Amino acid sequence: MRRVRGGWVRGLNGYVNRDNKIMVNTTAQIPITDILIDNTIYPREKIDPKRIGIFAENIRDGFRFDPIEVQPHPEKPGKYRILDGVHRWNAYKSTGVTELEVIIKDLDGVDPLLYAATKAIGPRQLTEEETRNTARRAYQNNPKLTSSEIGKAIGRARRTVDSYIADLRAAIRMDLEIKIFRMNRLGVPQDRIANRLGIPQQTIADHLPKKAVLPNPVKADLSRGFTVPQVAEKHGWTEPMVWSIALEGKPDLVRFKELNWGLRTWDLWEWNDCDRRFGDDWPGRIPAQLIAHILYYFSNQNDLVFDPMGGGGVTPDTCLALGRKCWSLDMIVRPDIRPEIEPYYWDEKGNFESASTSNPFPLNSKEKPNLIIFDPPYFDKKAKSYDKKSISMLPKKEYLAFFEGFLAWLRRKVKKTTRLAFINANWRDFQNTPAIEEHPEEAILIFEYHKIFHKTGWQPTHVIQAPMSSERFHAGVVAAMQKKKILGVTSRYIIVLKTK
Ligand SMILES: C[S@@+](CC[C@H](N)C(=O)[O-])C[C@H]1O[C@@H](n2cnc3c(N)ncnc32)[C@H](O)[C@@H]1O
Repeated sequence: MRRVRGGWVRGLNGYVNRDNKIMVNTTAQIPITDILIDNTIYPREKIDPKRIGIFAENIRDGFRFDPIEVQPHPEKPGKYRILDGVHRWNAYKSTGVTELEVIIKDLDGVDPLLYAATKAIGPRQLTEEETRNTARRAYQNNPKLTSSEIGKAIGRARRTVDSYIADLRAAIRMDLEIKIFRMNRLGVPQDRIANRLGIPQQTIADHLPKKAVLPNPVKADLSRGFTVPQVAEKHGWTEPMVWSIALEGKPDLVRFKELNWGLRTWDLWEWNDCDRRFGDDWPGRIPAQLIAHILYYFSNQNDLVFDPMGGGGVTPDTCLALGRKCWSLDMIVRPDIRPEIEPYYWDEKGNFESASTSNPFPLNSKEKPNLIIFDPPYFDKKAKSYDKKSISMLPKKEYLAFFEGFLAWLRRKVKKTTRLAFINANWRDFQNTPAIEEHPEEAILIFEYHKIFHKTGWQPTHVIQAPMSSERFHAGVVAAMQKKKILGVTSRYIIVLKTK
């Protein structure tokens, strides 16, 4: 730790005071190597070497410049990025200075690129090209900025900014229209769509009348005989969205046929592969065919499905294809690719309607789900694929306690006829251990959940086997397992429950 002026010390993430608060809007002396240029917030096209040369000469002559302005670097802990003073910083570097007086700014929500642009228009005007590019970059980073906000920062009239960004605005509006359309089709209420997309509810209301005509070009291309992938590509829609239009009004069985999914009649559902058209590559991805079978047997068209841990989006995608509504949530937030998966963290301490989340809480609305598809991450102390706060990281006792709390609470939130499809597997730490040496206290077998269902007011009605494919294991691995008497796990079950 290095002591700097005013009692601030160098901590892991930057300069901090004795209360460990990162210092901002104060002057500090920091190593020049901790200061970086970040091109994403630099408004000029290039750095002017002549200007640097003049500044360097001034410095050697003993001239003192104003301190440069920086902010803590959002991606590089302990480093700072320059908001204003790139030429001065370069000049100081070229004269061999190792520490520099800086002002560490807290921009308090102001867009850093626009702040940098405001600073840049003072001493030497930005060129026309730089001004235009800055406006466009600022808008692309944050489409919520208005033209006058951008205009103020770059010293241009609102109308000039409008002309700089007209094409971007049109593209984003189109995107937004598709997002609204998609969430609406999945039955997400207007207030939650507005909240999720960060736009006023009135905008959603204005968009909805267009809902009837938006699919027309898609329908026209489908009727001309173009395939679903072709139409999806042409219109910038996802395939499941196009399927939802292509299969509109058709019964489930016809939909299965057109999607090329053979319908399983017995309680063993087995597939070698996930259907790549539905859902994203995601740890623990389940086949869309599996979701489709749950939907077919345990729900009807237009029913509402609740998907509390939505992950890669297989459930909402399959719901689109089979004409179900779907409310999907996950702790991982991907607003651009998956607007329909609303951010929600199920607090492991059992505070499930935590005020910490900004989203309106879905299960408090009047409409209750007909079916819940609950596909939690399996228990695995070693699971590195999920977020640190995922329930898969919990020790066994806490992991099971989470389910007990969650299922008891869920039971109080649903209606009498709601069905729950719980997807889980036997978990045994078989990886390097001969079967006979495994420690059962480290395992969670599917029976353990049965006690929880009983305690929390859920009654199992069906147990369906839907094993994971063993084809994912390499032949060499299989041979080694056989030699060491390791007994692998491919079991996976869907336990369907009704309220008691
Ligand atoms: C098995 S994955 C779901 C996969 C999904 N059905 C699919 O096929 O793409 C489980 C999901 O639960 C989420 N998750 C884990 N703990 C959570 C929590 N406490 N709150 C919200 N989501 C959580 C993870 O981020 C992960 O995406």
